[in-house]
Amino acid sequence: NVMKEVSGLHVLEERLREKLKLAEVIIVPGDSDRDQWVKTEMGKAAVNRLLPLLKSERTIAVTGGTTLAAVAEMMKPLPNRKRPLIVPARGGLGEHVENQANTICSTMAQKANGEYRLLHVPDQLSKESYQSLIEEPGVKDVLEQIRSAGIVIHGIGEATTMAERRNSSSIVFQEIEKQNAVAEAFGYYFDQDGTIVHKLKTVGLQLDDLTDDKTIFAVAGGSSKANAIAAYMKRGPRQILITDEGAANELL
Ligand code: BG6
Repeated sequence: NVMKEVSGLHVLEERLREKLKLAEVIIVPGDSDRDQWVKTEMGKAAVNRLLPLLKSERTIAVTGGTTLAAVAEMMKPLPNRKRPLIVPARGGLGEHVENQANTICSTMAQKANGEYRLLHVPDQLSKESYQSLIEEPGVKDVLEQIRSAGIVIHGIGEATTMAERRNSSSIVFQEIEKQNAVAEAFGYYFDQDGTIVHKLKTVGLQLDDLTDDKTIFAVAGGSSKANAIAAYMKRGPRQILITDEGAANELL
């Protein structure tokens, strides 16, 4: 990629990969905090990296968020009329409908000429309703497909921003503050060392399900997310990170 050679982004990618100890880092120009189009570029980069993997893998689990919404928008049909299966990584996490994993799933499947399954699990459930719901055949099947997904694509958020976006209770805010949470992903909140300090209850992928046999993409950018990205990445190597220059410069 000529643009990258010229702009020195490859050097930045390698430095960031080493610093965060990741499998791979892809950096797009710009800062998504400032310019909306940068999210689209991250989306494109994610799709370009993803498509070759779909020769051998069919199921992709995705989380919610505006960045994943951009990934979904950039999705393309696969060669040879292959139909990928897109599933939501986790159930309701208090997002507006356009940013929910379910919505992103259906958009992405539509763009890919693929199929999708949805998880209809409300955010607030009593323990009893929750138990009976996950035993429902329709839900159970989707949960199995989610766990078997060979590819996971997720966003990373800044802890307080995500708690606000989810209209979390004051108890949650207090907890996040007390425990110094800085990052959020999959409904889990993390402190600067990558330790889990709070977790939202919902079905779907749990952090322990992110095993080594899966290809895991984190797509997150913007200088304001640098801290959150660094904290989350302390948890495990091996990931592919797709980010932007804004976050990368702040991280290095
Ligand atoms: C949410 C996910 O939908 O999006 C979170 O549940 C993630 O895990 C967040 O951190 C990221 O959102 P955005 O809009 O910053 O891409």
